[in-house]
Amino acid sequence: MTASAAGGSPATATYDRIGIGYRRGRQPDPRLAALIRDALAGARTVVNVGAGAGSYEPMDAEVTAVDPSQVMLDQHPGSRKVLAGSEELPFEDGAFDAAMAVMTVHHWPDLHRGLSELRRVARRQVVFTWDPTHLRELWLLEEYLPEIRRLEHARFTPLSEVVEALDAHTVLTFAIPHDFTDGFQIAYWRRPERYLAPAVRRASSTFAQLPPSVVEPAIERLRADLESGAWQRRHADLFGQDAVDYGYRLLVAGEPQHGTDRAAVPASGAPDTPGATAPVSSS
Ligand SMILES: C[S@@+](CC[C@H](N)C(=O)[O-])C[C@H]1O[C@@H](n2cnc3c(N)ncnc32)[C@H](O)[C@@H]1O
Repeated sequence: MTASAAGGSPATATYDRIGIGYRRGRQPDPRLAALIRDALAGARTVVNVGAGAGSYEPMDAEVTAVDPSQVMLDQHPGSRKVLAGSEELPFEDGAFDAAMAVMTVHHWPDLHRGLSELRRVARRQVVFTWDPTHLRELWLLEEYLPEIRRLEHARFTPLSEVVEALDAHTVLTFAIPHDFTDGFQIAYWRRPERYLAPAVRRASSTFAQLPPSVVEPAIERLRADLESGAWQRRHADLFGQDAVDYGYRLLVAGEPQHGTDRAAVPASGAPDTPGATAPVSSS
């Protein structure tokens, strides 16, 4: 493994703390994997920035994993691993066909610098993130943990700003399926009992950053509402939905895919079907 000077940002410290056992709670979701694979199609060399344990990396490319957390890199199964932060990628200009960054840009201490590094080292950029300006919110924030809203809005940047900084030409909606397998905070919108499990909460950096004195009383209220049936009565409508658009987006910038059928990236779809994608406005 190549080691370079990795930044000691708060996010790095978080992942050095919560990253142990990350792979157990964060199983890549096959529908999101397909979307990312299509966006990376044709790339033979890929740098995965904020790679973590390597979720969503293409099988048919030579992948270099970059992460400032040693705990995360230790769980990465690949052979090309570099300890570094997005703010200074230790690669030459244009070193890769594509750069990918999945659920990581909100951790970067300097988002604009990190995105410009992605553009410098690769000819195509694929970024998966969440838009804090999206209106539909998870019930967990509205009814139990408004503290999450403050935390998420402080660390995620409005999508329009990310689109502009990246000069993204494509923005795809990823509606979260009801049985989404990757345990980030939104995953259990239709399986509320899962939030009661400490192991599930430990897999999410959002929960990890809130003190137990905030999280535990809220979880106890959720437990009581589930036992009394109050939650089920309030959210009966959710059981009729297979996927919900909560503001997750895949951005593609730079060179288009080569040597593949571009239509492999769905150009349209109903947002309320599992994993459905559709072009959306970036504004
Ligand atoms: C939610 S995990 C996502 C990991 C992986 N991309 C995935 O989809 O499973 C966020 C990752 O961002 C990494 N990270 C934190 N600060 C970073 C920085 N400044 N530059 C690059 N990655 C960073 C963390 O160490 C962690 O591995």
